[in-house]
Amino acid sequence: MKGIILAGGKGTRLYPNTKVVSKQLLPIYDKPMIYYPLSILLLAGIKEILIISTPEDLPKYKELLGNGERIGVKFEYIVQTAPRGLADAFILGEKFIGKDSVCLVLGDNIFYGGGITLALKEALNNKEGATIFGYPVLDPKSFGVVEFDGNKNVISIEEKPENPKSNYAVPGLYFYDNDVIEIAKNVKPSTRGEIEITSVNNEYLNRGKLKVSLLGRGMAWLDTGTVSNMLKASMFVETVQNQQGLYIACIEEIAYNQGFITKEQLKKCGEELSSSEYGKYILNLCKEEK
Ligand code: TTP
Repeated sequence: MKGIILAGGKGTRLYPNTKVVSKQLLPIYDKPMIYYPLSILLLAGIKEILIISTPEDLPKYKELLGNGERIGVKFEYIVQTAPRGLADAFILGEKFIGKDSVCLVLGDNIFYGGGITLALKEALNNKEGATIFGYPVLDPKSFGVVEFDGNKNVISIEEKPENPKSNYAVPGLYFYDNDVIEIAKNVKPSTRGEIEITSVNNEYLNRGKLKVSLLGRGMAWLDTGTVSNMLKASMFVETVQNQQGLYIACIEEIAYNQGFITKEQLKKCGEELSSSEYGKYILNLCKEEK
Protein backbone atom coordinates (compact mmCIF):
# COMPACT_ATOMS: atom_id res chain seq x y z
CA MET A 1 0.00 0.00 0.00
CA LYS A 2 1.28 3.45 -0.99
CA GLY A 3 0.33 6.71 0.74
CA ILE A 4 -0.36 10.17 -0.65
CA ILE A 5 -0.61 13.44 1.27
CA LEU A 6 -2.29 16.28 -0.60
CA ALA A 7 -0.72 19.46 0.70
CA GLY A 8 -1.42 21.92 -2.09
CA GLY A 9 -4.42 24.19 -2.48
CA LYS A 10 -4.57 27.92 -1.94
CA GLY A 11 -5.77 28.09 1.66
CA THR A 12 -7.85 31.17 0.81
CA ARG A 13 -9.97 30.80 3.95
CA LEU A 14 -6.86 31.47 6.02
CA TYR A 15 -5.71 34.61 4.19
CA PRO A 16 -3.51 36.53 4.92
CA ASN A 17 -1.81 33.69 6.88
CA THR A 18 -1.41 31.61 3.76
CA LYS A 19 -0.43 34.38 1.33
CA VAL A 20 3.21 33.27 1.44
CA VAL A 21 3.17 30.12 3.59
CA SER A 22 1.47 26.85 2.67
CA LYS A 23 -1.43 26.02 4.99
CA GLN A 24 -0.09 22.58 5.88
CA LEU A 25 3.18 24.08 7.09
CA LEU A 26 1.43 26.28 9.65
CA PRO A 27 1.66 25.02 13.22
CA ILE A 28 -1.06 23.15 15.03
CA TYR A 29 0.19 23.80 18.56
CA ASP A 30 3.77 22.48 18.52
CA LYS A 31 4.30 20.89 15.10
CA PRO A 32 3.54 21.59 11.45
CA MET A 33 0.02 20.65 10.37
CA ILE A 34 1.28 18.03 7.89
CA TYR A 35 2.69 15.93 10.76
CA TYR A 36 -0.86 14.98 11.75
CA PRO A 37 -1.98 13.35 8.47
CA LEU A 38 1.54 11.94 8.06
CA SER A 39 1.24 10.25 11.44
CA ILE A 40 -1.92 8.48 10.22
CA LEU A 41 -0.06 6.97 7.25
CA LEU A 42 2.75 5.86 9.57
CA LEU A 43 0.23 4.29 11.96
CA ALA A 44 -1.20 2.40 9.01
CA GLY A 45 2.31 1.01 8.43
CA ILE A 46 2.72 2.82 5.10
CA LYS A 47 6.36 3.55 4.28
CA GLU A 48 6.22 4.84 0.71
CA ILE A 49 4.65 8.27 0.74
CA LEU A 50 4.07 10.84 -1.99
CA ILE A 51 3.70 14.48 -1.02
CA ILE A 52 1.87 16.72 -3.48
CA SER A 53 1.98 20.49 -3.24
CA THR A 54 2.20 23.68 -5.29
CA PRO A 55 5.32 24.63 -7.29
CA GLU A 56 6.06 27.41 -4.75
CA ASP A 57 5.58 25.27 -1.64
CA LEU A 58 6.96 21.86 -2.58
CA PRO A 59 10.62 22.87 -1.90
CA LYS A 60 9.64 23.75 1.69
CA TYR A 61 8.14 20.31 2.25
CA LYS A 62 11.32 18.74 0.91
CA GLU A 63 13.32 20.85 3.33
CA LEU A 64 11.10 19.86 6.24
CA LEU A 65 10.78 16.14 5.55
CA GLY A 66 13.70 15.21 3.29
CA ASN A 67 13.84 11.78 1.71
CA GLY A 68 12.31 10.12 4.79
CA GLU A 69 15.42 8.17 5.81
CA ARG A 70 15.48 10.00 9.15
CA ILE A 71 12.27 8.18 10.19
CA GLY A 72 12.82 5.03 8.15
CA VAL A 73 10.40 5.76 5.31
CA LYS A 74 10.61 6.99 1.72
CA PHE A 75 9.15 10.31 0.65
CA GLU A 76 8.60 11.31 -2.95
CA TYR A 77 7.40 14.69 -4.15
CA ILE A 78 5.25 15.88 -7.07
CA VAL A 79 4.05 19.34 -8.04
CA GLN A 80 0.38 20.12 -8.62
CA THR A 81 0.36 23.19 -10.84
CA ALA A 82 -3.25 24.15 -10.04
CA PRO A 83 -5.77 22.95 -7.44
CA ARG A 84 -7.67 20.75 -9.87
CA GLY A 85 -9.39 18.74 -7.14
CA LEU A 86 -8.66 15.93 -4.72
CA ALA A 87 -8.98 13.14 -7.29
CA ASP A 88 -6.09 14.74 -9.22
CA ALA A 89 -3.83 13.05 -6.64
CA PHE A 90 -4.31 9.69 -8.41
CA ILE A 91 -3.58 11.09 -11.85
CA LEU A 92 -0.46 12.91 -10.67
CA GLY A 93 0.51 9.88 -8.60
CA GLU A 94 -0.08 7.24 -11.28
CA LYS A 95 3.56 6.28 -11.66
CA PHE A 96 4.18 6.39 -7.92
CA ILE A 97 1.17 4.14 -7.20
CA GLY A 98 2.17 1.65 -9.90
CA LYS A 99 0.20 -1.55 -9.43
CA ASP A 100 -0.38 -0.97 -5.71
CA SER A 101 -3.37 0.09 -3.65
CA VAL A 102 -3.26 3.57 -2.16
CA CYS A 103 -4.33 5.60 0.85
CA LEU A 104 -4.96 9.33 0.37
CA VAL A 105 -4.98 11.72 3.31
CA LEU A 106 -5.60 15.45 3.11
CA GLY A 107 -2.84 17.60 4.53
CA ASP A 108 -5.21 19.60 6.71
CA ASN A 109 -7.07 16.74 8.42
CA ILE A 110 -6.35 15.62 11.98
CA PHE A 111 -7.52 12.29 13.37
CA TYR A 112 -7.08 11.25 16.94
CA GLY A 113 -8.52 8.63 19.24
CA GLY A 114 -8.35 5.06 20.39
CA GLY A 115 -10.48 3.81 17.51
CA ILE A 116 -8.21 5.02 14.74
CA THR A 117 -5.77 2.09 14.72
CA LEU A 118 -8.60 -0.42 14.45
CA ALA A 119 -10.31 1.60 11.71
CA LEU A 120 -7.02 1.70 9.78
CA LYS A 121 -6.50 -2.04 10.23
CA GLU A 122 -9.97 -2.79 8.87
CA ALA A 123 -9.44 -0.51 5.87
CA LEU A 124 -6.09 -2.18 5.15
CA ASN A 125 -7.73 -5.62 5.29
CA ASN A 126 -10.32 -4.62 2.70
CA LYS A 127 -8.19 -5.48 -0.33
CA GLU A 128 -10.76 -4.89 -3.07
CA GLY A 129 -12.62 -1.67 -3.80
CA ALA A 130 -12.61 1.43 -1.61
CA THR A 131 -12.94 2.18 2.08
CA ILE A 132 -13.94 5.65 3.21
CA PHE A 133 -15.22 6.85 6.54
CA GLY A 134 -18.32 8.55 7.89
CA TYR A 135 -18.05 10.87 10.87
CA PRO A 136 -20.99 12.64 12.56
CA VAL A 137 -20.80 16.44 12.46
CA LEU A 138 -23.27 19.13 13.46
CA ASP A 139 -23.14 20.95 10.13
CA PRO A 140 -22.10 18.66 7.27
CA LYS A 141 -22.92 21.13 4.45
CA SER A 142 -19.30 21.86 3.57
CA PHE A 143 -18.30 18.18 3.20
CA GLY A 144 -19.15 15.10 1.19
CA VAL A 145 -22.21 13.67 2.97
CA VAL A 146 -23.31 10.02 3.14
CA GLU A 147 -26.93 9.16 2.32
CA PHE A 148 -28.28 5.94 3.87
CA ASP A 149 -31.44 3.89 3.27
CA GLY A 150 -33.58 2.58 6.16
CA ASN A 151 -31.16 -0.31 6.72
CA LYS A 152 -28.09 1.91 6.98
CA ASN A 153 -26.94 0.89 3.49
CA VAL A 154 -25.17 3.70 1.67
CA ILE A 155 -27.19 5.03 -1.29
CA SER A 156 -25.04 7.95 -2.35
CA ILE A 157 -22.39 10.48 -1.36
CA GLU A 158 -23.35 14.09 -2.05
CA GLU A 159 -20.69 16.81 -2.34
CA LYS A 160 -21.45 19.90 -0.25
CA PRO A 161 -25.25 19.44 -0.30
CA GLU A 162 -27.63 22.33 0.48
CA ASN A 163 -29.87 19.88 2.34
CA PRO A 164 -27.71 17.10 3.78
CA LYS A 165 -29.50 13.72 3.99
CA SER A 166 -27.55 12.69 7.11
CA ASN A 167 -25.07 14.23 9.52
CA TYR A 168 -22.30 11.85 8.42
CA ALA A 169 -19.51 13.75 6.66
CA VAL A 170 -16.72 11.99 4.76
CA PRO A 171 -13.34 12.91 6.30
CA GLY A 172 -10.19 13.35 4.23
CA LEU A 173 -8.87 9.79 4.55
CA TYR A 174 -9.54 7.33 1.76
CA PHE A 175 -8.31 3.82 0.87
CA TYR A 176 -8.52 2.56 -2.73
CA ASP A 177 -7.50 -0.40 -4.82
CA ASN A 178 -5.57 0.21 -8.04
CA ASP A 179 -8.76 0.93 -10.07
CA VAL A 180 -8.74 4.43 -8.57
CA ILE A 181 -6.29 5.62 -11.23
CA GLU A 182 -8.56 4.69 -14.11
CA ILE A 183 -11.65 5.97 -12.24
CA ALA A 184 -10.02 9.34 -11.47
CA LYS A 185 -8.99 9.76 -15.10
CA ASN A 186 -12.61 9.39 -16.18
CA VAL A 187 -14.11 11.82 -13.66
CA LYS A 188 -15.69 14.87 -15.30
CA PRO A 189 -14.93 18.18 -13.54
CA SER A 190 -17.79 19.45 -11.35
CA THR A 191 -19.51 22.82 -11.76
CA ARG A 192 -16.78 24.35 -9.57
CA GLY A 193 -14.22 22.96 -12.04
CA GLU A 194 -12.69 20.32 -9.75
CA ILE A 195 -12.32 16.58 -10.19
CA GLU A 196 -14.10 15.57 -7.06
CA ILE A 197 -13.19 12.70 -4.78
CA THR A 198 -16.95 12.32 -4.25
CA SER A 199 -17.31 11.36 -7.94
CA VAL A 200 -14.63 8.70 -7.44
CA ASN A 201 -16.46 7.38 -4.37
CA ASN A 202 -19.80 7.30 -6.19
CA GLU A 203 -18.21 5.31 -9.01
CA TYR A 204 -17.00 2.72 -6.48
CA LEU A 205 -20.53 2.72 -5.03
CA ASN A 206 -22.02 2.08 -8.51
CA ARG A 207 -19.63 -0.84 -8.92
CA GLY A 208 -20.78 -2.23 -5.55
CA LYS A 209 -17.28 -1.77 -4.14
CA LEU A 210 -17.56 1.09 -1.67
CA LYS A 211 -17.30 0.42 2.05
CA VAL A 212 -18.21 3.30 4.35
CA SER A 213 -16.86 2.67 7.82
CA LEU A 214 -18.64 4.77 10.46
CA LEU A 215 -16.40 6.33 13.08
CA GLY A 216 -17.72 6.65 16.61
CA ARG A 217 -17.88 9.60 18.99
CA GLY A 218 -14.71 8.45 20.76
CA MET A 219 -12.67 9.62 17.83
CA ALA A 220 -11.75 13.18 17.01
CA TRP A 221 -11.70 14.40 13.43
CA LEU A 222 -10.63 17.99 13.08
CA ASP A 223 -10.52 19.86 9.79
CA THR A 224 -8.17 22.81 10.12
CA GLY A 225 -9.22 24.83 7.08
CA THR A 226 -10.34 27.96 8.99
CA VAL A 227 -8.56 30.12 11.58
CA SER A 228 -11.08 29.23 14.24
CA ASN A 229 -10.67 25.50 13.55
CA MET A 230 -6.89 25.88 13.63
CA LEU A 231 -7.05 27.48 17.05
CA LYS A 232 -9.46 24.82 18.33
CA ALA A 233 -7.21 22.07 17.01
CA SER A 234 -4.15 23.64 18.68
CA MET A 235 -6.01 23.85 21.99
CA PHE A 236 -7.17 20.24 21.64
CA VAL A 237 -3.60 19.03 21.07
CA GLU A 238 -2.27 21.14 23.93
CA THR A 239 -4.95 19.82 26.31
CA VAL A 240 -4.40 16.14 25.47
CA GLN A 241 -0.59 16.34 25.44
CA ASN A 242 -0.30 18.25 28.69
CA GLN A 243 -2.85 16.07 30.45
CA GLN A 244 -1.44 12.72 29.34
CA GLY A 245 2.19 13.57 28.81
CA LEU A 246 1.82 11.67 25.53
CA TYR A 247 2.19 13.41 22.19
CA ILE A 248 -0.22 13.46 19.29
CA ALA A 249 1.47 12.95 15.91
CA CYS A 250 5.07 12.74 17.03
CA ILE A 251 6.24 11.14 13.79
CA GLU A 252 9.57 9.99 15.24
CA GLU A 253 7.81 8.19 18.12
CA ILE A 254 5.42 6.42 15.73
CA ALA A 255 8.28 5.45 13.41
CA TYR A 256 10.11 3.94 16.39
CA ASN A 257 7.05 2.09 17.69
CA GLN A 258 6.41 0.72 14.21
CA GLY A 259 9.96 -0.59 14.06
CA PHE A 260 10.94 1.74 11.19
CA ILE A 261 13.91 3.13 13.17
CA THR A 262 16.14 1.95 15.99
CA LYS A 263 16.50 3.58 19.40
CA GLU A 264 19.82 5.08 18.25
CA GLN A 265 18.10 6.74 15.29
CA LEU A 266 15.31 7.97 17.56
CA LYS A 267 17.90 9.51 19.86
CA LYS A 268 19.53 11.28 16.92
CA CYS A 269 16.13 12.71 15.92
CA GLY A 270 15.64 14.02 19.46
CA GLU A 271 19.10 15.55 19.63
CA GLU A 272 18.47 17.57 16.47
CA LEU A 273 15.46 19.18 18.17
CA SER A 274 16.67 19.20 21.76
CA SER A 275 15.95 22.89 22.44
CA SER A 276 12.21 22.36 22.06
CA GLU A 277 9.74 20.48 24.24
CA TYR A 278 9.10 18.29 21.21
CA GLY A 279 12.76 17.29 21.03
CA LYS A 280 12.93 16.72 24.79
CA TYR A 281 9.89 14.44 24.55
CA ILE A 282 11.71 12.30 21.98
CA LEU A 283 14.85 12.16 24.12
CA ASN A 284 12.74 11.06 27.09
CA LEU A 285 11.30 8.21 25.04
CA CYS A 286 14.83 6.96 24.48
CA LYS A 287 15.27 6.54 28.23
CA GLU A 288 12.28 4.22 28.46
CA GLU A 289 12.81 0.45 28.39
CA LYS A 290 11.50 -1.34 25.35
P1 TTP B 1 -9.51 22.68 0.61
O1 TTP B 1 -9.56 23.02 2.06
O2 TTP B 1 -10.76 22.30 -0.06
O3 TTP B 1 -8.84 23.86 -0.23
P2 TTP B 1 -7.69 24.86 0.18
O4 TTP B 1 -6.69 24.18 1.06
O5 TTP B 1 -7.16 25.46 -1.06
O6 TTP B 1 -8.38 25.94 1.11
P3 TTP B 1 -9.41 27.14 0.82
O7 TTP B 1 -10.75 26.51 0.66
O8 TTP B 1 -9.28 27.93 2.09
O9 TTP B 1 -8.94 27.94 -0.36
O10 TTP B 1 -8.46 21.48 0.40
C1 TTP B 1 -8.41 20.37 1.23
C2 TTP B 1 -7.01 19.83 1.30
O11 TTP B 1 -6.59 19.33 0.04
C3 TTP B 1 -5.98 20.86 1.66
O12 TTP B 1 -5.00 20.21 2.46
C4 TTP B 1 -5.39 21.30 0.35
C5 TTP B 1 -5.50 20.05 -0.48
N1 TTP B 1 -5.76 20.25 -1.92
C6 TTP B 1 -4.74 20.03 -2.84
O13 TTP B 1 -3.60 19.74 -2.46
N2 TTP B 1 -5.02 20.10 -4.17
C7 TTP B 1 -6.26 20.39 -4.63
O14 TTP B 1 -6.44 20.42 -5.87
C8 TTP B 1 -7.30 20.66 -3.69
C9 TTP B 1 -8.68 21.00 -4.14
C10 TTP B 1 -6.99 20.57 -2.35
